[in-house]
Amino acid sequence: MPVMRSVFYVPGNNESFIEKAPSLPADIITLDLEDSVPPAEKEKARELIRKNLKLAGSGGSTVYVRINNWETLMTNDDLEAIVHPGLSGVCLAKCGHPDDVKRLDWKLDELERRRNIPVGTVAIQLLCETAKGAINAYPSATASKRVNSLIFGAVDYTKDMRVKITSEGDEQLYARFHIAVAARAAGCIAIDCPYVAFQDTVGFEKSVAQGRQMGYEGRMLIHPSQIEPSNRLYAPSADDVEWARGVVKTFEEEGLAKGKAAVSYKGKMVDTPVYDNARTILSTLAEIEAFDKKRKG
Ligand code: COA
Ligand code: MG
Repeated sequence: MPVMRSVFYVPGNNESFIEKAPSLPADIITLDLEDSVPPAEKEKARELIRKNLKLAGSGGSTVYVRINNWETLMTNDDLEAIVHPGLSGVCLAKCGHPDDVKRLDWKLDELERRRNIPVGTVAIQLLCETAKGAINAYPSATASKRVNSLIFGAVDYTKDMRVKITSEGDEQLYARFHIAVAARAAGCIAIDCPYVAFQDTVGFEKSVAQGRQMGYEGRMLIHPSQIEPSNRLYAPSADDVEWARGVVKTFEEEGLAKGKAAVSYKGKMVDTPVYDNARTILSTLAEIEAFDKKRKG
C-alpha cells in the first residue's frame, strides 16, 4: 500500500508556499486548484503547478494535484494543464457519484496516451465531502482501478448538511465512520479530514487517535506544523510493534508449530485474525521505513 500518513495541501496560486514544498517531510504534497484558489487565480495556479510538479516532489514527497469537480466545468482545463511527468495522482474534489470517477479515468487515459506517459500512471484519490459523496463512497471507490484512497472532507460535508463544524466532530461521526469502512471495503486507504484549528496541537492529536480507531491511516493537512505529528502518529507505535512481534512469535512457535490456531499472549486469546492483524502492523512498518529511507537516500 502507498504510504499516506501526511497529505499536505498547498494552495496552487501561492508561489512562496510552493517553493517551500520540497523542504517539508510530507508523504504526499497536494498542490491545490480547488477551494484554496479563488476563481480569478485558477489559470495562474494551473500554470504554476505545471511548472513546479517536479520541484514539489524534489524533497521525496509524492505529488498529487486537487482538481475541481465536473459540475464546475473547470475539470477539463485543470487536467489538460497538470497531467505531465512528475504527477503521481489527482484528488477529485466533491466526488458525488461513480460516473464522476469513470469520466476522470477516461480523461486520464487520453492524456497519458497523448503525452507518452504509461497508461495507469496517475492514481485517483477521492474527496468524499458531500452527503451524496458519503453515501456513494464505495461505488465511487470501485469505479476505477486507479482509485487508491478516499479522503473524508468534513468542511464541505458540514456545509452540505447545514450544520456547524466543531473540533469535537460529533456532527461528522456517521460520515467519518462510513467513509473509512467504504475505503477499506474497496481496498483503499482512508484519509481523515483536515483539522482546521491548526494551532491546537493537543486537540489535533486527540482527533488523530480517534480517527485511527475508525480505520484512518493518514490525514489531510493544512499547516506545516501538522506534518511531523501525523508521520509519527500514523506509523505503528513502539508498543504496537512490540505487541505485534510478540503475537507473531507466540502464534508461530506455540500455535502453528504445535498444530494449534489459538494461543494465549499476555492474557488474551490470539487466533488467526489477530495474527494477521499483527503481521499487517509489521508490514506497514516496513513500508514506512522503506519510504522514509528512499526519501533520505
Ligand atoms: N504550504 C506551504 N507553506 C505553508 C503553508 C502551506 N499550506 N501554510 C503555512 N506555510 C508556511 C508559511 O508560509 C510560513 O512560512 P515562514 O515561516 O517561512 O514565513 C510558515 O509555514 C508558518 O505559517 P503561519 O504563519 O503559521 O500560517 P499562515 O497564517 O501564514 O497560514 C493558513 C495559515 C491556514 C492560511 C495556511 O496554512 C494555508 O493556506 N493552508 C492551506 C490551506 C488549504 O490548502 N486549504 C485547502 C484544503 S482544506
Ligand atoms: Mg472541500
